[in-house]
Amino acid sequence: QADLKNTLLEINRLAANFFYYQLKQPSGKVGYDYFKEKRRLTDDTIRHFGLGYSSKVPDDLYRYMRSKGYSDDILKETGLFFIDERGARDKFWNRVMFPILDVNNRVIGFGGRVMGDGEPKYLNSPETKIFDKSRNLYGLNFARTSRAKYMLICEGYVDVIAMHQAGFTNAVASLGTAFTSQHAMLLKRYTDQVVLTYDSDGAGVKAALRAIPILKEVGMSIKVLNMKPYKDPDEFIKNLGKEEFQKRIDNAVGSFMFEISVIRSQYNMQDPESKTGFYNAIAKKLLEFPEKLERDNYTEAVAREYMIPETDLKNLVNSMGGLI
Ligand code: CTP
Ligand code: MN
Ligand code: MN
Ligand code: MN
Ligand code: MN
Repeated sequence: QADLKNTLLEINRLAANFFYYQLKQPSGKVGYDYFKEKRRLTDDTIRHFGLGYSSKVPDDLYRYMRSKGYSDDILKETGLFFIDERGARDKFWNRVMFPILDVNNRVIGFGGRVMGDGEPKYLNSPETKIFDKSRNLYGLNFARTSRAKYMLICEGYVDVIAMHQAGFTNAVASLGTAFTSQHAMLLKRYTDQVVLTYDSDGAGVKAALRAIPILKEVGMSIKVLNMKPYKDPDEFIKNLGKEEFQKRIDNAVGSFMFEISVIRSQYNMQDPESKTGFYNAIAKKLLEFPEKLERDNYTEAVAREYMIPETDLKNLVNSMGGLI
């Protein structure tokens, strides 16, 4: 079993080198230009993250691995190939490639992106004996040695890479899969503060709302960065630059105030009934604080932020069961 794992790691490493090499070939120029021009990544960044290109040849990676002496049985286990009676094909075809490294810098899988608008946008290695998506975070191999006191958590490959390129080397991503308690425990080894930098769209907000209780569970202090008007860290930094991004980090709000702002967006303050609904919803949310002092402090903060008379909000909270 240990032998099998080591062989799978060896094959993934060879594949990463293969994709990197292809990116530098004339036939890989389409991938190289995509990274340089479309994504504004430098040669240094491409090398640092070991980015690559999977060719249009349907089985060149497969034939390369066979030439190195690996059997079909072992190659099947890598998830990098489709192998059956009819023959063998590479899984990744004409995509730019992102090797996924674990905290020990071992290549455990890949993500591959189409260079245009095709579907699926990203194709990822399946889970294998060496790749457990819920226990690995993209970028953590670098972020773990960053000197920042906190980690930045985002959604995507290019977000991590763009942040690192801009100097935010404390960025990691959970890559499509939901953030898990294993992810939280893994991060907790390195820090007890995080700033969520998920996409500003509905999916990103949902992902943040789901990650918050999981991070709280391990005792993490959580802030949420306001990405607006941009969609994700990559686009924000491309448009407004790293100084503005740093300002957004400095101004990130605590997870509670973020949750309240999400609740706020679901109500219409012009409508008295809806407005009442909002007040009840935040009062209920404030009751999540079991201790009176903390609850009062947050009640004051919310009242100030949303211009609600403080005593009104306190009375409402108390009437809902907070009289302890
Ligand atoms: N993802 C995936 N499969 C998809 C779409 C997304 O695995 N079909 C994962 C990828 O890890 C991706 C992340 O979810 O990086 C976030 O998705 P999305 O916001 O759609 O992609 P971006 O990272 O913003 O992609 P890009 O900037 O390259 O368009
Ligand atoms: Mn190929
Ligand atoms: Mn998204
Ligand atoms: Mn995105
Ligand atoms: Mn993006």
